[in-house]
Formats: sequence, structure tokens, C-alpha cells
Amino acid sequence: MRQLSNPFVIGKYVDKEYFCDRVKESELLVHHIVNGRHIAMMSERRLGKTGLIEHVFTNHLPDNYETFLIDIYTCKNLQEMVFMLANEVFRKISKKQSLLERLLSIVRSLKTTISYDTKTGMPELGIGIGEIHQPELTLDEILNYLETSDKTCIVAIDEFQKIAGFEEDNVEALLRTKIQHLKNTQFIFAGSERHLLEGIFNDPARPFYNSVVFMQLLPIDENEYIRFCQQLFLRYEKTVSEELVSRLYKCFQGITWYLQLSMNEAFTMAERGGRVNENAYDQILNHLVDSKRFTFEDRYASLTGKQKTVLQAIAAEFPKKPTLTSQEFIAKYYLKTASSVQTAVKGLTEKGILSDYHGVKRPTDLLFILWLKHF
Ligand SMILES: Nc1ncnc2c1ncn2[C@@H]1O[C@H](COP(=O)(O)OP(=O)(O)OP(=O)(O)O)[C@@H](O)[C@H]1O
Ligand SMILES: [Mg+2]
Repeated sequence: MRQLSNPFVIGKYVDKEYFCDRVKESELLVHHIVNGRHIAMMSERRLGKTGLIEHVFTNHLPDNYETFLIDIYTCKNLQEMVFMLANEVFRKISKKQSLLERLLSIVRSLKTTISYDTKTGMPELGIGIGEIHQPELTLDEILNYLETSDKTCIVAIDEFQKIAGFEEDNVEALLRTKIQHLKNTQFIFAGSERHLLEGIFNDPARPFYNSVVFMQLLPIDENEYIRFCQQLFLRYEKTVSEELVSRLYKCFQGITWYLQLSMNEAFTMAERGGRVNENAYDQILNHLVDSKRFTFEDRYASLTGKQKTVLQAIAAEFPKKPTLTSQEFIAKYYLKTASSVQTAVKGLTEKGILSDYHGVKRPTDLLFILWLKHF
């Protein structure tokens, strides 16, 4: 594995060397998979669901598993979802000539174009979304292919709550019916919109009721994260103080994405042989917030007066999480009535500035809140 110039990776999963902890969570996920269960994985945003799935797919499953991962965040309907799934299956399979032939003989509803890489001679498949005329049929064919594979197939569908808003209104029932009959294929349904996912899986009136085992992801333990950072710094002959990582951890409430962003920045602040101390804290936050200043200014300008006042109060309290309609909060920030706060909170939620998790409203973007608080 080549050494990265900055080991604090943001975005794509790279390698277990750059991945912190999640030992127990990986074991649990493998346990459910090996037990033949379908899994619903939930957590707050940016805590590491997708990363965990990729980590387990890459490192922790025996050879007799084949894995697929799609993110349906941008999908509006079944056709788009089937298109993604087809592409993912084709992408994985096209590397193996014998499997490819079998795939093409089963998935017949798709007119595919095969070309051959001039250098490697490997086949490359191309499909256009317009070729998915009968999404349900193509889905059946892909599932048939997975069912007859000599490996157990695990299909992870990220941002699964999106299916609740698909243009067709029978997608849940349709998927549930198909999944019920599968013997060789299991699903991981991941997402962060807890109320939507719980609606899908926990409502006795809906098709997916009682069909999954739940997995709830919590923040990485603070000490584990500190150890991870110190080890990575050491590997590059640098050091970082425990106090700095701990302060950043508390500021961002252990949410992995912000921590990785901060540590990516911290890492650049020392030369080989150097040390980053707690006094780098303000500079790191400043840098993170500064790069988004214009976006934040526009976002703030788009709010109503009352929304601004409520958001300023949330920022002033941050990282504490007050109950927004409590008398104490209303009195402290002169917000007048609980109902006017509720109206503002509703508007802020509709604008995506607050989001709902566990029935509690939280800021969606902590950097925006930090900008309001400090700048
Ligand atoms: N255990 C980990 N160690 C190091 N970095 C991690 C770890 N888990 C996740 N990350 C990083 O944190 C960020 C957020 O992770 P990820 O995208 O997996 O979260 P998510 O819960 O799927 O987020 P979303 O709710 O936005 O889908 C990514 O940049 C990812 O690379
Ligand atoms: Mg994700």
C-alpha cells in the first residue's frame, strides 16, 4: 500500500490502515451477514455507515461472498435504482469473463454494449438508463443472476429511505416480495433519516415490517480516536497532543467526518519531526469555516428574522443541545413564545438547516453553526 501524503482521508474508503476502530461494529455486521440476515443500519449523518460497510466488504468477509454497494440518494424512481444496481453488478462481474457470459445469458432485458479494452483485452460493459424499459423485469433478472451465483451475494443499498419517496407508490411492496424469496442474496439497507427508515421497517402496516435486524452506529470512542490520530502522526514522524484531538472531538460531538476534516488540517500544520499542540485549535476551526464563508453568508441571508434569532441561540449554546421549546431556552434568548419557536424550527428543518434524529432537532451542518458562533 503506497503511503498517502495525508493519512486523514475524507470521502472514499481507502484502506484499513487509515480506518479508525469499528472493531466491534465490524464483527457485529459480519455476524449478521453470516447468520443470513437482512440488516438496517442507521446513524446520524456522517458518522461512518458507508465507511463501515466498505471496510467490512473489503476486509472482513470470507471469499465465498460477493458484495455490491449502491447509493440511491439521487434516485427518483425504480428505473434509476435498477440502473444503478445493474451498473454495479456489471462493474464487478466484467472483470471475470466466465461470469460475464452467465450474466448476459440471464439478464436479457438489457441491451448491453461490450467493448474490449485495447491494452488489457478486458471486456467493458456499457448500458444506458434508457435501456431499462421494464425496471421490474430487469430487477428480477439481476436478482436471478445473484441467486444462481456460486457465492453468497450481499447488496448494500445506501440512503435506502429514498425509496419511500419514489414516484411509483408500490416500490416497498414490490421489493419486499422479491427479497422474501431470495436464498442466496442478502441486503444491507443503510441511511440516516431515522424516522423514515423506522417508518419503513417498524410500521406493522408496511411491507418491510419485521424483515431486518437493526444496527445502530454510534460515534467512535474518543480514546480510540485519539490513539488512531497519534499513531498516524507517528508513522510520519510527527506528533499531535491528546488535548487537541480531545477538544476537537468534543466540539464536533464525535462525528467522524468533522474529525477527519479537522485532523486532515492539523496534519498539514507540522513538518516531519514537528508537533501540533492544542493552540492549533482555533486555527483549524478557522480554516474549516473560512473555506465556506460565502456559502454560509448566502445561507444566512435566506432566513427569516425569527429563523435567524433561533439559529443564533442554537449557535450560542453549541455544543450543548438545548430543548428548543423549553421555557429556559425561550426566556434566555428572548424568543417570546414556544409556538413561534416551533414555526421557526419547522422552517429551518424544511430548509435542511436542522434535521431530525431520534425526535431531536440538530444542526445539519456543524461548521455553519460554528461560523455563526465565532465569526
Ligand atoms: N472508522 C473511520 N475511520 C476513519 N475515517 C472514517 C471512519 N468512518 C468514516 N470515516 C470517514 O468519515 C466520513 C464520513 O463517513 P461516511 O461517509 O461513511 O458516513 P455516513 O454515516 O455514511 O455519512 P452520510 O450520513 O453522509 O451517508 C468519510 O469521510 C469517511 O471517510
Ligand atoms: Mg453514507
